[in-house]
Amino acid sequence: MLAQTLFFAIFRYFHLMAAIIGIGGTFMLRYVVLPSLESQDEEVRQRFHGKARRKLGWIIPGALGVLLISGIVNLLRAFTVAPPLPYHIIFGIKFLLVLPLFTIAVMLVLPGNPPNRFQRNRRLWLSFNAHLGFLIVALSVALRFLSGK
Ligand code: HEM
Repeated sequence: MLAQTLFFAIFRYFHLMAAIIGIGGTFMLRYVVLPSLESQDEEVRQRFHGKARRKLGWIIPGALGVLLISGIVNLLRAFTVAPPLPYHIIFGIKFLLVLPLFTIAVMLVLPGNPPNRFQRNRRLWLSFNAHLGFLIVALSVALRFLSGK
């Protein structure tokens, strides 16, 4: 029993950490880094984005992988308490929203030149993903209350 609790707690911790890094990082890029770069030359901006993309190229897929695996473990934990019907509906909505968020996040850090359509409209897609993330966290709070543990 203690081992099971510890197991679920560890995966909950991983889930929260990956969500904090992913959504917090997206918010920071959109509302702090992008506006701060606006006064820089185009060449400086492109160099920054190229370097940032290389670093984010492993951080973002890593965070998404952790979210997916720990999310599945969270789901197993929730089923140990047989949550009510709204839980399943809200989880379905959450999962449908997670899919575009994952896709956009990967498109934004894909390597390659010239930049793809998401990278050319970085400001729009970072805003979109940050707000989608806020909505997903709100749904997750509801899930947590409904699973009551
Ligand atoms: C952008 C992606 C995601 C974000 C921002 C996110 C965020 C969160 C947050 C903040 C919680 C609350 C954790 C807690 O209170 O312990 C949570 C719980 C949960 N998440 Fe996610 N999550 C994401 C992706 C996923 C995925 C891909 C899955 C499933 C495969 C998933 C399944 C769950 C489940 C089942 C719970 C537990 C709800 C409960 O307590 O019953 N999440 N998520």
